[in-house]
Amino acid sequence: MSNYHIKHLEEYYQVYRKSIREPENFWEEVAEEHFVWRKKWDNVLSWDFTKPEVKWFEGAKLNITENCIDRHLATRGDKTAILFEPNNPDEPSEHITYSQLHKRVNQFANVLKAHGIQKGDRVCIYVPMIPELAISLLACARIGAIHSVVFAGFSSTAVATRINDSDCKMVITADGSYRGAKSIDLKGIVDEALEECPGVKTVLVAKRTNSEVHMKEGRDLWLQPLLDAASTECKAEIMDAEDPLFILYTSGSTGKPKGMVHTTAGYMVYTAYTFKNAFQYRENDVYWCTADIGWITGHSYIVYGPLANGATSVMFEGVPSYPDFGRFWQIVDKHNVTQFYTAPTAIRALAKQGVELVEKYDLSSLKVLGSVGEPINEEAWHWYNDVVGKNKSPIIDSWWQTETGGIMITPIPYVTPTKPTYATLPFIGIQPALMDEAGNELKGNQIEGRLCIKFPWPSIARTIWGNHERYRETYFSTYENKYFTGDGALRDEVGYYRITGRVDDVIIVSGHNLGTAPIEDAINEHPAVAESAIVGFPHDIKGSALYGYVTLKDTGESRNHDNLRKEINQLISDRIGPIAKLDKIQFTNGLPKTRSGKIMRRILRKIASKDTSNLGDTSTLLNPEVVQDIMDEAL
Ligand code: PRX
Repeated sequence: MSNYHIKHLEEYYQVYRKSIREPENFWEEVAEEHFVWRKKWDNVLSWDFTKPEVKWFEGAKLNITENCIDRHLATRGDKTAILFEPNNPDEPSEHITYSQLHKRVNQFANVLKAHGIQKGDRVCIYVPMIPELAISLLACARIGAIHSVVFAGFSSTAVATRINDSDCKMVITADGSYRGAKSIDLKGIVDEALEECPGVKTVLVAKRTNSEVHMKEGRDLWLQPLLDAASTECKAEIMDAEDPLFILYTSGSTGKPKGMVHTTAGYMVYTAYTFKNAFQYRENDVYWCTADIGWITGHSYIVYGPLANGATSVMFEGVPSYPDFGRFWQIVDKHNVTQFYTAPTAIRALAKQGVELVEKYDLSSLKVLGSVGEPINEEAWHWYNDVVGKNKSPIIDSWWQTETGGIMITPIPYVTPTKPTYATLPFIGIQPALMDEAGNELKGNQIEGRLCIKFPWPSIARTIWGNHERYRETYFSTYENKYFTGDGALRDEVGYYRITGRVDDVIIVSGHNLGTAPIEDAINEHPAVAESAIVGFPHDIKGSALYGYVTLKDTGESRNHDNLRKEINQLISDRIGPIAKLDKIQFTNGLPKTRSGKIMRRILRKIASKDTSNLGDTSTLLNPEVVQDIMDEAL
């Protein structure tokens, strides 16, 4: 039996049982046999969910880039590590081998050092999906700097908030980015953000669009000449197992974004192990995850997990619709992609285009199809399975979160029989629990509850940067001694899990987590707005879309509602980013509130979903009359 590579269902159950009965022995064996360590650990695991504190492989010394790059040089030096596919299909792809990656990461690391970055410093990375993005993460890791990647679709305000929250000293960016036929002035966004960020001393700028940008004297530097002049050797900084590797922000239902902190050894072991098994990666496979490295999926399953296994990982700069909706399939055909990992929102958008664009290409290389980011609906699942996978490539519907670092519930392809819309079985080492609202664990099968995890796994986030109390409060205070995911789930008669969606005020739009509070804060900045409430409603491509109920200040003036809608969406776009724009905005005379002043979102959600046959108990409302008004005027 191999603990590292599971090939049969029987083996899954055996390994799973071992990982639950003897978690320390299990993870110790995996860590021992499959990674390189400068020094082994003194203690495999110590934990206490009440503090909360989790430490894996304490006392061990390592550098993750030695595991992701150096150790492959002897056997895979000429193998493609990163296969870059540009936005424009007429531009050549770029094959970056492990030995080229080694040199480029070292050069970049030397540039960081030469500009004052040291172990423990935070570096903000706001770079589009070009090779420099993956390389900059690894360069930070090489010297022990903590990277904080901000998705290059966020607005300047969102960038500034994230830079300041973690006191980044440096920003890495590009002149601009391509997204389909559009290009975006990234450097301009950074310039605006930095007006609010006095702590940033240096900005390194990669060239991509060759657009004209303003370079601020003494702060901004073109990256390429610095890389060209730098040495291709850079000794890896020796890190402690629990030293932070990166910060990645995720939306909360309230307040500012949470900077989730992931540490080095546990994250490495778990992302590598899950990558190997959840995708059944084999030596000559070409693996492609379509996510952006700005999200956790890209961190764990474009960069660290694949590279730790010596894999070839495709990195795509563009969008699924450019130059047409056949682009994904054209890339699969061109590079003989074997594992393909994408989000339900993309599947739905592509399914809408019909089968011709899929059938035009040879997809026979595909072996595994992955889905992540939101629940996959039955129709999308079947389309993916039948039209893309021709019924022979299993779908792995993988459930996990920024906070979990790696995949938590998923079928293992060719091992776990799949079931439409089910993420199926917990991954090795993962102990889920379903809870009722009173805090009792629901035992047995065929039940629905709130999804918690009872025992630590190696890649659990260790804290929220600068706010450990918020970490405790958000994830560990709802249920005693358990990590609370914020999701609801059901368990079927054979123990398969199906994720039913968020149970808090986070809405997932096109696979992106959006907290309602920050969007409402942005709307409320508009001088004409008195109050607002955001809810999600079903959308056939985005999964959920945003519906805003907005109450205006009573000034006696009449207002042009169409103009107001545009201004409100502009404000949201400026404060957060275009992804948070509202699909519908309804102006109301009031919002339904409880006697304690809480907005009753449950009612607003039902109205937005056009599901008003049973609004539930409205007797506790302070102002029941507004409900009828809102229903009458609903869009
Ligand atoms: O609600 C779940 C949903 O996405 C949330 C986590 O979002 P984020 O931190 O951005 O990470 C996304 C990529 C790992 C979860 O709380 N989610 C993620 N995957 C699935 C899912 N919901 C249902 N099925 C999934 N496979």
